[in-house]
Amino acid sequence: MPARRLLRIGDLSPADVDALLDAALWYFPHIAAGELKLTTLRGFSTLLMFFEPSTRTRVSFELAGKLLGSDTISVTSSGSSVEKGESVVDTAQTLSAMGFHIAVVRHRSADSVELFAEHFAGAVINGGAGRGEHPTQALLDAAVLTRAGMLEAGRHLAIAGDILHSRVARSNIALLTSRGVKVTLVAPPPLMPPAWRAEPPTGTVWETDLDRVLPEIDAVMMLRMQRERMGGGMLPPADEYSALYGLDARRLRLLRPDAVIMHPGPVNRGVEVVEAVFADSRCRINEQVTMGVALRCALLCWACGRPLIPEEGGL
Ligand code: NCD
Repeated sequence: MPARRLLRIGDLSPADVDALLDAALWYFPHIAAGELKLTTLRGFSTLLMFFEPSTRTRVSFELAGKLLGSDTISVTSSGSSVEKGESVVDTAQTLSAMGFHIAVVRHRSADSVELFAEHFAGAVINGGAGRGEHPTQALLDAAVLTRAGMLEAGRHLAIAGDILHSRVARSNIALLTSRGVKVTLVAPPPLMPPAWRAEPPTGTVWETDLDRVLPEIDAVMMLRMQRERMGGGMLPPADEYSALYGLDARRLRLLRPDAVIMHPGPVNRGVEVVEAVFADSRCRINEQVTMGVALRCALLCWACGRPLIPEEGGL
């Protein structure tokens, strides 16, 4: 079997996506109950190569690997030879020579994740590629939406905030529109990619007024302002941003009673969402974190060509 690659949502067939979502929903209650311990990936080794900061993505992959019996090793750029100037190509070749079966890679440049994949013999999963894609986040979000009965043609979801810098938005747009979900992108012009201001991606529309959109939608995904990707000049002050695009107590009342509220994290409390959002029964932010482990269990099995759900179907 040639090594599997998940660099973008488009790398997966619709059947792959269905199988991964089904499996994530199978793992979810076991992860939530803290009762999973399997041997599916015994004998497989997983490398987590994170050249950019991460809590949720890195730890959930590490936990998923360990729960499935894989040897899992985490490398960050600080403390590795990348700090001494080793190139992405040399790093990929070196770690490939150690015989790792899977690498999960995050880098601030999307091209570097591609380059790593070209020089690594095993399976490669994109753990967040610059302003490119973040396919595992979109898959876990889709699993949460499936659980809420919202991953269906004709549903309407808004992605609000810093679309320009968001790999989460790019992967979610690809996955959601492929399922016929209508996506409204809500952002001020400076936080919208210039090409999309003229023509938003197929299946999406662009709005600048969050208040107008909120009463109409089934789900909203709030995005963090990616300050680390902004030059000083374009930084809107946090209070100005949250007045226009933050989910606060007044805007919570505009949302339908059965709406779903999501955020990929990390959250800037008081900027994209206020504290009250976490106490709201419509908020799925913690469920997204649990689903992150469940989805990554399924994905590591997929990457190794193993059954996504244990064959006996039980523990
Ligand atoms: C996102 C990321 O790193 O792209 N976070 C995540 O993976 N959970 C979003 C963000 O950093 O704002």
